[in-house]
Amino acid sequence: MYEEAPTPLTIDLMPAGLFLMTAAHDGRDNWQFVVRGLGITAGPPTIVTVGLSPSNFTTQLAEAAGEFVLAVCSAAQASVVAASRGLHGRDTEDKFALVGLQRLPATRVRAPLIAGAHACLECRIQGKFPAGDRQIYVAEVVALHLDRAAPPVVHYDHHVFAFDPRAPIG
Ligand SMILES: Cc1cc2nc3c(=O)[nH]c(=O)nc-3n(C[C@H](O)[C@H](O)[C@H](O)COP(=O)(O)O)c2cc1C
Repeated sequence: MYEEAPTPLTIDLMPAGLFLMTAAHDGRDNWQFVVRGLGITAGPPTIVTVGLSPSNFTTQLAEAAGEFVLAVCSAAQASVVAASRGLHGRDTEDKFALVGLQRLPATRVRAPLIAGAHACLECRIQGKFPAGDRQIYVAEVVALHLDRAAPPVVHYDHHVFAFDPRAPIG
């Protein structure tokens, strides 16, 4: 049986990936978690979208640079979710160091990769569309770095869940 529920719960009740976006511009870099991320087409060109708040410092760096890195998180980044609450890049010199995230150099964009994720996507922004209080960015993946030994995690209802990619049920 269904129960009728308030529409804002929609966002919590849609299972999603857990992503970590990095961006760099004009001598500064920063990162933010993202759950509003989606692969759109394998292409070529390979296209992803992310839904971002324009007030986040990382969003502003990505907007200014026209590029970002989207890391597909593994279990190694799960504990960073709690540690990230209340941290804002604009008020900190190095938000990576504050939570123990290690930068790795990217190959085609200035934003850094993150060590220990399932994958890191180097992305160039192609377009931007309004979506309520967010902006949806459409971006081309120009390089992909994959570590199959670090499986991805899922985000649902404010929690991060592990799953076994070797045991599909459908
Ligand atoms: C698990 C999790 C998922 C998040 N997903 C998004 C998202 O999809 N889009 C967004 O704009 N902010 C999202 N946020 C919020 C930003 O990560 C948060 O506002 C961050 O503090 C911005 O930091 P900055 O100002 O240093 O960039 C999420 C936060 C958490 C903890």
